[in-house]
Amino acid sequence: MMKFIWDAKYSVNIKSIDTQHQQFFALINKIFFALSQRPIDTTEIKQIVTEFIKYAETHLAYEETKFQESQYPEAQSHCQFHDSYRHQIAEFEKQIKLSNADVPTIANQLAQFAQNWLSEHIMATDQKYSQFFLAHDIR
Ligand SMILES: [Fe+2]
Ligand SMILES: [Fe+2]
Repeated sequence: MMKFIWDAKYSVNIKSIDTQHQQFFALINKIFFALSQRPIDTTEIKQIVTEFIKYAETHLAYEETKFQESQYPEAQSHCQFHDSYRHQIAEFEKQIKLSNADVPTIANQLAQFAQNWLSEHIMATDQKYSQFFLAHDIR
């Protein structure tokens, strides 16, 4: 479990989106924190996981709305990365809901996956829209 620390290298130079990415990471940290508590509260962990999944989806949808509004030329390939993330998160979600699920283990895997995915996605994919968004008055 590694607490994620925000760094300027993750900035996309769009204030609304940096704030969302910070919240995305804050919720992942919240999962890790709940996992470090003893005794582990699986009900609470499930709640935080649900909160995280919902927030992350809100963020992806926000970006996609901005792609449409601005007619971002790389929207299609960008959305494919979002969809592959959604697909993997849906798998974790399905597993964690099973009656015999090992909730802490799955929550830990989900949080690790989401943390790696987001840090790579920001730097490899999100940062590509910075100039275009700024030119289209998306702040
Ligand atoms: Fe993003
Ligand atoms: Fe994105």
